[in-house]
Parts: sequence; structure tokens; C-alpha cells
Amino acid sequence: MMSPDAVQTAPVKETKAQKSERLKLAKNPWESWADVEGFAQAGRDSVASEWSGLYFKWWGIYTQGDGIGAVGGVGGEGKTTEYFMMRIAVPAGFLTSKQARVVADLTKKYARNLADVTTRQAIQLHWLTIESLPIIVQELEKVGLSPKSACGDVVRNVTGCPLAGIDGEEIADASGLAREVAAEMNGNPEFYNLPRKFKIAVSGCPVWCCYPEINDLSLTAIKRGDELGYSLRVGGGLSKEPHMAVRLPVFLKPEQCVEAVRGVLRIYREQEALRKDRSKARIKYMFMEQGWTAETFTEELQKRVSFTLEPAVEEVLPEDVFRDHCGIRKQKQEGLSSVGMSVLRGRVSGEQLEKVADLADEFGNGELRTTIMQNLIIPNVPTEKAQGLAAELGKLELHVDGSVFWRGTVACTGTEFCKLAISETKGFSKWLVDEIEERLPQFDQQIRINVTGCPNGCGQHWIGDIGLEGKKVKVDGKMVDAFNFAVGGAVGKYQRPARPIGYRAAATEVPEAIERLLRGYLAKREQGENLRSYFARTPDEELRNQLAGTGPATIGE
Ligand code: HEM
Ligand code: SF4
Repeated sequence: MMSPDAVQTAPVKETKAQKSERLKLAKNPWESWADVEGFAQAGRDSVASEWSGLYFKWWGIYTQGDGIGAVGGVGGEGKTTEYFMMRIAVPAGFLTSKQARVVADLTKKYARNLADVTTRQAIQLHWLTIESLPIIVQELEKVGLSPKSACGDVVRNVTGCPLAGIDGEEIADASGLAREVAAEMNGNPEFYNLPRKFKIAVSGCPVWCCYPEINDLSLTAIKRGDELGYSLRVGGGLSKEPHMAVRLPVFLKPEQCVEAVRGVLRIYREQEALRKDRSKARIKYMFMEQGWTAETFTEELQKRVSFTLEPAVEEVLPEDVFRDHCGIRKQKQEGLSSVGMSVLRGRVSGEQLEKVADLADEFGNGELRTTIMQNLIIPNVPTEKAQGLAAELGKLELHVDGSVFWRGTVACTGTEFCKLAISETKGFSKWLVDEIEERLPQFDQQIRINVTGCPNGCGQHWIGDIGLEGKKVKVDGKMVDAFNFAVGGAVGKYQRPARPIGYRAAATEVPEAIERLLRGYLAKREQGENLRSYFARTPDEELRNQLAGTGPATIGE
């Protein structure tokens, strides 16, 4: 037994949260880019552990996994390689052909010709060496892009409607506000040390394809009579415990929005209780565990803004939130169309991105947009030229009229590069889409298949029609990739996280299970019933039986 003295002097092991908090107080990484330039000169071995473990994230940089994921490592994290990945912020998904060309060039030069469009409209590069980091950041900054704030305990890339300013159905073009919020909050030293990451979405459109409900804060356009304003939500998030954002009972005038965002961020920043456990450090836990309500939050917000918060007006929630933005779509500007291409699981090569940039110049006005479903759009194309553009994109395997499975499949980073991953996701998703296309060639319903390599849920499996969460199972004595199924995730009027329905399959068995499930839908749907409402009304057991093939036989298409 230890003596009382020994107990007193025994070193107390810092928790992960304590360590992060200590390091964050010690340094604002945004002010210390010179450290990175030093590492780049001295080589990979010189990188200080607090940089590889924490500070790099403030610059959108993570260490890269060894392709084995968490299973290959200890303590829940996989091994780090000498390489890095970098997330480049694209506020509200607005990208120019010039910027895209620079990213394409960097992709070819430094990232083994591979770039991923992410579920927050950012672009992620991999395989970067320490030597390349300062060069890449410098090149990005020349064209107004930056990885700063794309990761870390800060305001992340602000998402917005990819059709802002061109969509005939929009209530308002909120892209200006989205970009203003991004300009104010990304890289703002006042908010360099939040308890954890903070995600913001700003939408001017009634479809809500940027999922305001799953962001820490969202602004959605609303009308009070003829007057434009915004609804404010806080506390949404996915991860291991999904929580739909709480609407605050306020109506914000456009000019009040930035101040309100700042007020919310100040409330969040002050929550010392959240800084004790990183897995519970999101604003949603104030509502889930600390008894905060929309009303108490609003009272606190009122103390932090200079204007009187006005009461909310009635809101119409979107019936069915689905927009992959693929296809040719007439804009509100007479004679112009947007052309959306599906980028299967968000992955493009440098050449593809370069060619897309060229096509945006040739057919449009040099603008591009990234979408939350990991796709790309070329807007402002004269309608008579849109088919020609679609044909060019088809040659690049960026299909404008791809199958519903191509269009609707989203995948997180997975074992390929993520140290926390349990399963591989990107290669799997491509194979899965090929397989289901072959099995159900006539399937014409919109579908969201969200593949995520571990419970952290970066692939948004909680809001998929079919959400697949990576696991491992033993097959013939060997551990292989597998997926847990969650079904029926929805946002909008019928919002609810997907239901984990107690079915798990080895990765190789997933297409067959999905085929059975979708055949079940085709056989049992009511006239005109979409997939989301069918999943919502069908009991878990029935869906589980269909997935497992143990239920009553279903008839084919
Ligand atoms: C505790 C660790 C993590 C949690 C809880 C987490 C959670 C999430 C969630 C819920 C999203 C959904 C997107 C959204 O909010 O709209 C997301 C996005 C994403 N995550 Fe993670 N994540 C974690 C770590 C990582 C790591 C280690 C990587 C890769 C190395 C990663 C890569 C991504 C990517 C690429 C996205 C896409 C969106 C973006 O641009 O931010 N995440 N994450
Ligand atoms: S969900 Fe995907 S990207 Fe996120 S931590 Fe897990 S494996 Fe990595």
C-alpha cells in the first residue's frame, strides 16, 4: 500500500481535456505560423508533439493515419504517418475557377493527385509533407483561400446554400451574410479558444440543404410580412449523440445577425463546465445535460447584444429536405442554368478539378460551388449550352445525370487517412454504389446513403436514409470491416436521427442487404410514397428482417 506521502506526490495524469486546455491557454496557434515554417525547414522529426497533437488543427491540418485506422493503434487512435492532411475552407461553398485551379495544381504537386470535397463544403488534401505546408498555405492565400480555422476548437467553415443568389425558390440570397459571418468569426482571436469546434450554417432557402438542425448555430431566412429576417438555432450536432438544434424564440434582422452570432459564441466560450470533457464539450450538451432551454439561452443572449431581441415569427419547416444539386436547373436569372455534377463520395483528381475550372470559364462565368453532399456546381451557364457542358463533365466521370446512388452517397475519410477510423469508407462507397446500381438499375427514388468510418459520424450517418457506421466483425477468424445500419434519418419537418435498428453486416454483405431493404420499399410503398416517409412508418423489426433477409419474402421491382 502507498504511504499518504506517496499519494500526495504521485504525479496526477492529465486528462485529454486538461491537456488541451493547458496548451490552448499557452498559445494561439494562429499567431505562431513561424513555428511551422521552422519545422518545414528542419524536417518532420522536428515537429513538436503539441503541434502534431493539437495546434496544427487551427491551421486546418491533421496528422494522417497509416491506413489501418484505430484498430492499428493503441488507446483508441491509430498510428500517425509522416504525412499530413489539410482542410481548405470554402466559405458558403463559393469557389472561383482561379482558386480551383490553384487547389488542383497543389493537389497534383503535393497531394498525390487526390482531393476530397467534404460535407461542409471544404476541400481536403492528403499526403502532404511538412516541407510542403508553408508553400501550400502561401499559394492558397494568394487566391484568397486558407485552411485557417477549418479544424480545431474554433468556428469551422461556415456552410451555406450552394444555389444562393441563383435559386428561384430562395427567400433571400444569404451568401453575403454567410461570408460575412465567416470573415468575422474564422480566425478571430477572440474565439481562438472555444471549448471545442463550432459549426455554423447560414441558409436563405426554404429547402435547408445545408442542414441548419445539425449545426451548433444556424441562421435561416424567414419573412415577417414583407420584411426579411432570420431564425436562430443553437445546439445541433451529430457525432455519437445526435441532437437537433433548438430554435430560439427570436426574429433577427439581417443587420443584427453577426452581433447575435458573436453573442452566442461568447456564451459558449464562457462555459467552463464544457471544458472538462472533450467528448461533451459541444454547445448541444448545455441543452442535453445542463438544463438550458431556448428561453434561458435567449435571456443570456439578450444580455450580450446591444439591441432588443424581437419575438420569433411562425416558421414553415421544409417537408422533405433533399437536394443533391445535381442536374441542370434553371436559375432565376432568365436564360441561365446551374449545372450540378455528382462527385462520387467527394473525391476528385487534380486533373478533374482543373478541367472543371476550365469548363466553368468556358461555359459559365468562372464561378463554382461546393455542396454539402460532396458535389460540385457550375452556375451561370447559358441554358442552351448546359447540355454541352453536361457532356463534357460526363467525359470526366462527373455525371450530371448520375444514378440516384451516385448522387446520394456521402462518405467520411475512413481508415485511408483517419486515425480514428474503424472501417475503410471511400473505396467501399464506390464499390457499394457500383453494386447497388447493378442490382437495382431502375430505382428512381432520391436516397441518401451516408457512410461513416466510426461512431464520430463525420459522414453524417444520423441523417441518412440509410446510415452505415463502421465496425469490425470476425469472419473465418479474421477481423474484417463491417457496418451497423441506421435507417430513416431525416431533417426538416419530420426531423429525427436515423434509428440504429440492430443489424450489422460485413462490408461485403452490405449491397445485398441494401438491395433487400429497397426491394421491400418498392413492394410495400403506398402510391407516390417516398423512401423517407416509408422508413418513418415501418417498424424497426420489419426493416431489420428485410436487411437480414429473414422476413417474409419481398417481391422484386
Ligand atoms: C472526436 C473526433 C471527431 C468527431 C466527433 C467528428 C465529428 C464530425 C461530424 C459530426 C461531422 C459532420 C459534418 C457536419 O457537421 O456537417 C464531421 C465532419 C468531418 N470530419 Fe470529423 N470528427 C472527428 C474527427 C475527425 C477526424 C480525425 C477526421 C479526419 C482526419 C475528420 C474528418 C472529417 C471530415 C473530412 C469532415 C467533413 C466536413 C468538414 O469539412 O469539416 N473528423 N466530423
Ligand atoms: S467518422 Fe470517419 S472521418 Fe470521422 S473520425 Fe470516424 S472515421 Fe474519421
